Amino acid sequence: MNVTWHEGIVKRSERRMTFWLTGLSASGKSTLAFALEHKLISEGKAAYVLDGDNVRHGLNRDLGFSAEDRSENIRRIAEVAKLMNDAGLIVITAFISPFQADRAMARDIIGEKYFKEVYVSTPIAVCEQRDPKHLYERARKGEVADFTGITSPYEAPIEPALVIDTSILTQDEAVQRLASLLKG
Ligand code: ADX
Repeated sequence: MNVTWHEGIVKRSERRMTFWLTGLSASGKSTLAFALEHKLISEGKAAYVLDGDNVRHGLNRDLGFSAEDRSENIRRIAEVAKLMNDAGLIVITAFISPFQADRAMARDIIGEKYFKEVYVSTPIAVCEQRDPKHLYERARKGEVADFTGITSPYEAPIEPALVIDTSILTQDEAVQRLASLLKG
């Protein structure tokens, strides 16, 4: 058969990747995710952010914040990320994803080789001070049920590929560190 296989210009290993950002509300996940997306796209790499607040307006609008609903939230996101990876996109997810078991499920769905867990470890005191949506304040008053870090647990990753504390690192430094995971 006189047919040769043409490798694309973009290496498969470079485009098939999910950066899984996990951390508390207001830890800086979305800001970092969108900054990384911007950098990758400006380098000609196809990247797309799946963000908690956005996805919960559409695909996952039927889900709340019980442990079961968060688990289903993560399962669906992981399945979407896998499809996007198959389509050649670098995916960056920004979900609290507080439970170790749910992140392990995401890793299984997406595939160990393509999954990079990034712990956005900004301390809760800093997140609570930022509180852009006044959710910590409302949770302290008992107005928001099951709020992560206050009335619902956050289980920190055990062996993340990268740890980023946005109260210490500048955004540029954090994005550089994230981007360097693509080469590894
Ligand atoms: S996850 O736990 O299921 O991964 P996700 O990242 O999708 O959560 O959504 C978190 C966002 O929902 C927060 O940034 C916040 O704006 C909002 N939110 C509303 N209620 C809660 C709650 N009880 N716990 C955490 N976040 C909440």
